[in-house]
Amino acid sequence: MTSGPTGHAVRRELHNRILVVTVDNPPVNALGVAVRCALSDAIEAAEQDASVDAVLLIGAGRNFIGGADIKEFGKPPLPPSLPAVCNRIEACRKPVVTAIHGAALGGGLEIALAAHYRVAVANAKLGLPEVTLGLLPGAGGTQRAPRLIGAKAALDLMLSGRHVGAREALALGLVDRVGETDDVLNEGLACVQALLDAKAPVRRTREADGLADRMASRAAIEAARAETSKNARGLFSPLKIVDAVQAALELPFDDGLRHERQLFLQCLDSPQRAGLIHAFFAEREVLKAPETRHAKARAVTSVGVIGGGTMGAGIAVALLDAGLPVTMIERDDASLARGRAHIEKVYDGLIAKGRMTSEAKAAVLTRWNGSTSYDALASADLVIEAVFEDMTVKQAVFAELDRVCKRGAVLATNTSYLDIDAIAASVSRPGDVIGLHFFSPANIMKLLEVVVPAQVSADVVATAFALAKRLRKVPVRAGVCDGFIGNRVLAIYRAAADHMMEDGASPYQIDRAVREFGFPMGPFQVSDLAGGDIGWATRKRRAATRDPNARYVQIADRICERGWFGQKTGRGYYLYPDGARTGTPDHEVEALIDAERERANITPRAFSDEEIMRRYMAAMINEGANVVHQGIALRPLDVDVTFLYGYGFPRHRGGPMKYADSVGLVNVLADIRAFAKEAPVFWKPSPLIVELVERGATLASLNHSA
Ligand code: 3HC
Ligand code: NAI
Repeated sequence: MTSGPTGHAVRRELHNRILVVTVDNPPVNALGVAVRCALSDAIEAAEQDASVDAVLLIGAGRNFIGGADIKEFGKPPLPPSLPAVCNRIEACRKPVVTAIHGAALGGGLEIALAAHYRVAVANAKLGLPEVTLGLLPGAGGTQRAPRLIGAKAALDLMLSGRHVGAREALALGLVDRVGETDDVLNEGLACVQALLDAKAPVRRTREADGLADRMASRAAIEAARAETSKNARGLFSPLKIVDAVQAALELPFDDGLRHERQLFLQCLDSPQRAGLIHAFFAEREVLKAPETRHAKARAVTSVGVIGGGTMGAGIAVALLDAGLPVTMIERDDASLARGRAHIEKVYDGLIAKGRMTSEAKAAVLTRWNGSTSYDALASADLVIEAVFEDMTVKQAVFAELDRVCKRGAVLATNTSYLDIDAIAASVSRPGDVIGLHFFSPANIMKLLEVVVPAQVSADVVATAFALAKRLRKVPVRAGVCDGFIGNRVLAIYRAAADHMMEDGASPYQIDRAVREFGFPMGPFQVSDLAGGDIGWATRKRRAATRDPNARYVQIADRICERGWFGQKTGRGYYLYPDGARTGTPDHEVEALIDAERERANITPRAFSDEEIMRRYMAAMINEGANVVHQGIALRPLDVDVTFLYGYGFPRHRGGPMKYADSVGLVNVLADIRAFAKEAPVFWKPSPLIVELVERGATLASLNHSA
């Protein structure tokens, strides 16, 4: 073996007569400009060098290549372009083989498709996930993949963005063989040697015949177009993917490539691409809370859960699913049995859908223990309290935990609104107390607000982040305040929706406008799903401390007074006849709203959907900015991730803070000021927005690492 020149982020080594080209660009071997240059140079050199018979292309570290360097998108392009590099590889006159381990995604798979032969080892995962970033495979993927594996399979990969393992890749024809070991270098060398021994020709994907059955290809494209038009929910790139595959069928390869490029550039320029890539980086940035860098997580091998109601049971399922043993504490045997039944119901649902076996359920439940005595928590490493939302009850629970839990146990509360500093102050070990705010259903919803009270130790915060990872949740660090990040902001935009409803918009119009913006549900549908009684109880609790000058819309109270709590009672804002899951508008609710308008002396006016969304978003953005300004959220991106993962904010818009930048903070501020003219108590511009507008800066400028 001899060594050749070391390129930027790409190494070359000669193994007998095979040039091994290793992409070594941590963390994921993304195809930044240095890698692109060095790959082109390596192919050029291999072609020129008489001592080289073939090229083996591999990746260093845990992956082959994670794709194009996403950080370069939106910046001026630097040559060589990725399509040019792929073409250069394909044009090579000597065989080029890729051996794939770990991720070969997006541009990474496109490099592999441009090579002449492909081998994958068992841990390989291949995919064209560009659609998840608002893009399409833009380095020949839309032209080569259908030629290699047919239009139907290629469209499925590109439209779903899913990853396939080595075996499936072989079955699809994406790779030529699957290695017997995980040793990518030796598997690759063996493959190249076998090809050389067999004098296998250079074989170019552009000439592959996967589209030869034109009728079947056309049918697959039309089916994908119909399906995508129906389901793309306002997304831009999916239909462009279908267009690009159509070009693959109808145009010669090079013309198809040019067409793909045009479509790719349209996607690259779209605000959706910017929103989706913001979301990609933001969901990774939230993991970097300061405590996770400076402190080591405590070991957690067993967990206690207090309360087996909606949240306690969901949290227990999330913990059990992550393989942790759970001890549940309830008030009495009957409540404990109900808690256990709630958990079983989740697993029985999975069994009914064929997604779990009874044996698997039994195995999971061996990790569950129940007790009505706190003493059962003596050895728990972490306890999560999910009892009634009442400070006295919670402090009584924490007094018990203080009594029985071992030193070093983490004591967490799932409270939605209560002051966690006050809970911490009530025990002898405030440094161990933290908020773990799960969202309902807790075993499904991805968001976990990690609420950090003043006295908590850094290693407890680090433990919360480590637990989130184990539970496959997305943790966001939040400070203590009424509602933390999410529910605090929700209270404000929900109030804005109530104001509009009382001023003349129907709840059905508001819900529709919000859905059309991209949320899966509008605020009144959410209320019907969650149960109107929960908010009603909170409003009653707060009635005494409510600002008498603040506008208070009573429509929700009138609805609750009738026992209309939403889906569970068959009616709320909507009617749900015979247990229906989607509601139908209710004339009685409309009449009740009319009566409330009259009582409040309001002459209803018309709202356009556009005005509804401007007000709704302005309220959300303004409070989001307050939350950042007061240090409740570390950065604007933490607010974005909270809304993406806990409140159904449309991902392609990146989150409310990203959205604010995209429409222009100056415009948002102008709206808020205009609304403030008629309702100055409710609409107070956030000092942060005012300051950023004065400086001509964006919210994104505050997204530096925490
Ligand atoms: N470009 C730039 N940075 C990237 C990147 C990329 N394509 N992929 C990952 N990173 C960064 C992450 O931001 C993270 O940075 P950080 O440590 O500073 O936070 C770091 O690499 C590690 O990423 P993960 O934490 O996600 O690492 P994992 O080991 O969990 O996962 C992975 C690795 C499966 C490769 C995952 O990172 C991933 O899915 N990456 C994106 C894959 C993708 O979408 N590729 C398509 C890109 S678009 C394209 O190729 C266009 C082309 O068609 C022209
Ligand atoms: P729930 O009423 O469904 O369940 C509460 C459970 O706690 C009941 O089973 C009750 O028997 C038990 N309990 C009460 N006092 C107890 C005690 N002293 N010891 C042991 N068990 C006791 O309430 P839910 O909805 O599960 O809420 C629990 C907590 O989670 C509240 O703090 C709530 O604010 C919070 N939360 C609720 C969300 C939701 O959507 N329901 C979302 C996020 C947080």
